[in-house]
Amino acid sequence: MTTTDARAGSASEVPGKTGGAGADKTRASRSTIFVKELSRRARWRLLRHFLALNSGDRLLRFGSVLSDELVSRYVENIDFSRDTVFGVYDRKLRLLGVGHLAFAPREAMPSVSASTTKERVAEFGVSVAASARGMGVGSRLFERAAIRCRNVDIDTLYMHCLSSNKVMMHIAKKAGMAIHRDYGEADAYLKLPPANPASVLQEAVQEQVATLDYTLKANLRAALKWLGSLPGIKRD
Ligand SMILES: CC(C)(COP(=O)(O)OP(=O)(O)OC[C@H]1O[C@@H](n2cnc3c(N)ncnc32)[C@H](O)[C@@H]1OP(=O)(O)O)[C@@H](O)C(=O)NCCC(=O)NCCS
Repeated sequence: MTTTDARAGSASEVPGKTGGAGADKTRASRSTIFVKELSRRARWRLLRHFLALNSGDRLLRFGSVLSDELVSRYVENIDFSRDTVFGVYDRKLRLLGVGHLAFAPREAMPSVSASTTKERVAEFGVSVAASARGMGVGSRLFERAAIRCRNVDIDTLYMHCLSSNKVMMHIAKKAGMAIHRDYGEADAYLKLPPANPASVLQEAVQEQVATLDYTLKANLRAALKWLGSLPGIKRD
């Protein structure tokens, strides 16, 4: 698979894309971005998403320009039993955005360990397909990751990025993260309140809606495929 083949959905297929009809409309349409928790079955879709990132994006996402081979290894090594991976699908079930929430024992992250008494901390990494940026996908993935942390008794969400990454810095500041800059890199921390019935319900509802959305898209695709296989019917 080449990186060109792997390119994710076009802007016209982005949930929430408004075509410049105004900020209010954009905000409203952001509510149609559904963030779904991914299982190991999504691995090849994850691979496709990551391979489509160009070298600049790979630098921002992984801290270095990973080769296709290293990207594949990263995807193969995602531990779904330990970490949580979220995704936003387009109508063709391609991943427009992916958020990886990696959990680690407090001691494994000395820069964070002093500020929490919880056993684990979480590190978040996110990427959005170039064609889907600026529509709120990255922010929605971040919000979902923060709710998950609350609901699994984690009070410190950590992100490492380049300080030149203006978009990510903007998202971090907007979320109220404390940011420490050092030699062109930035560590951002978010202190989270404990879970409450509302945060648990919010996450459950989001996941149910995202699962329903995924199922509808999958069924529609299957129906279109079936229709396309009928003699005399063409599919685009
Ligand atoms: C960072 C990234 C995930 C953001 O995803 P996204 O879906 O485009 O983000 P959103 O649309 O949710 O938010 C973008 C915000 O940044 C703002 N923004 C865009 N360009 C900006 C700039 N140059 N400077 C400051 N803010 C900027 C937008 O106005 C928007 O703000 P708003 O929500 O207040 O309106 C995406 O750009 C990406 O994948 N980059 C490459 C990988 C990467 O950098 N990963 C992060 C490393 S952890």
